Amino acid sequence: MKLLLIGSGGREHAIAWKLAKSHKVEKVYCAPGNGGTALEEKCENIKLTSKEELIEFAKKNKIDFTVVGPEIPLVDGIVDDFKSQGLKILGPSKSGALLEGSKAFSKEFMKKYGVKTAEYAVIEDYNEAMEYVNNCAYPVVIKADGLAAGKGVVICMDKEEAKNTIEDFMVKDVFKGSGKKLVIEEYLVGVEASILSITDGKTILPFISSKDHKQIYDGGKGPNTGGMGVIAPNPYCSSEVLREFNENILKPTLEGIQKENMDYTGIIFFGIMITKKGIYLLEYNVRMGDPETQSVLYLMESDLVDLIEASFKGKLDKFPIKWKDKYSCTVIGASEGYPIKYSKGFEISLPSSNECKVFIAGAKIEDGILKTSGGRVLCVVSEGDSLEEARNKAYAYINKVNFKGIYYRKDIGIL
Ligand code: AMP
Ligand code: GLY
Repeated sequence: MKLLLIGSGGREHAIAWKLAKSHKVEKVYCAPGNGGTALEEKCENIKLTSKEELIEFAKKNKIDFTVVGPEIPLVDGIVDDFKSQGLKILGPSKSGALLEGSKAFSKEFMKKYGVKTAEYAVIEDYNEAMEYVNNCAYPVVIKADGLAAGKGVVICMDKEEAKNTIEDFMVKDVFKGSGKKLVIEEYLVGVEASILSITDGKTILPFISSKDHKQIYDGGKGPNTGGMGVIAPNPYCSSEVLREFNENILKPTLEGIQKENMDYTGIIFFGIMITKKGIYLLEYNVRMGDPETQSVLYLMESDLVDLIEASFKGKLDKFPIKWKDKYSCTVIGASEGYPIKYSKGFEISLPSSNECKVFIAGAKIEDGILKTSGGRVLCVVSEGDSLEEARNKAYAYINKVNFKGIYYRKDIGIL
């Protein structure tokens, strides 16, 4: 088989690696890929990004199916465009992608189908927003409706912060339209978990759970990032938590996808909060998480190509998904100054290892040398019989990785 994968981050390197492991696969074309996919067995980077070019490439090269890594092309409707040309592609239609593309839409969907979620209001009028935060309980969570590269959520501790946030989102328009509509939401206290899954529209098949570490500094301090590390499975996802997730979140979500005729064959990722009052859904994403994917696919024993083919055939209910009975730990090596301001172009030295896998996130090959090209540079992934063993392996390795200004959290997987 020849496959096409869209995207260029650590998540995409992990997906490319996992697809390439399938004996059915001859080639994975990565558009545009990165310095990691460039070197991965059976993978080849191609310099295409526009929808039209990608469709032409898929037709010309008889691509068996396409996988989309990031949310932007999905929300843009790439799946509808590929399908209308008779091309197979994994992902929701444009209407399904709204579950991530619009927080107001996704909250209305949750409410309509009885998915357990925080209380909220959708507000489009500036004066109404200001009045709302004059009278609400604190902390309160203000969210930009549209895509905002993970920066569109602010937990406001008091009235002043809430008013400044509304000003930034609605008046200064820092998200270029995405913050013109707001979701203002009840603040929940608890621990978060990421549950990635795949659906064929008839079944939602959950993957093993994982735990992201979003803030830049140890102890969950400092600004949010794309994610600084992951462990899987998530130690807080007990069988009772998963049972409740299944009843109150997964089942009503599937019902909604069906009743809304969303034409959804693709990834659906649930960001949940485990609280004393039960399990709440914070958000849907319509793609895999980054860096959750790196740890989750590392533990997937099943062939990812078989799994995706089962979703195209509508046979996920019969798919015997298998996971290694192990823990995985992913530690992100980032550029000094990320997520605010950082330099690029530094040479990376990676010792060889049988214990860990390195997925490249922001690095490219220049004159045969791997150099940093982004904020999150690389992801060190390990596995172990215990969480501690997985952690120790990942840290023993990343301690030996070098590029100018390398920064990583020291507490990934410490509970
Ligand atoms: P979201 O994009 O909606 O998942 O929000 C991003 C992050 O903000 C989440 O991962 C949580 O850490 C935090 N967050 C979102 N909604 C809430 C909430 N209602 N209560 C507390 N924290 C929240
Ligand atoms: N790591 C969180 C996300 O991918 O949205």
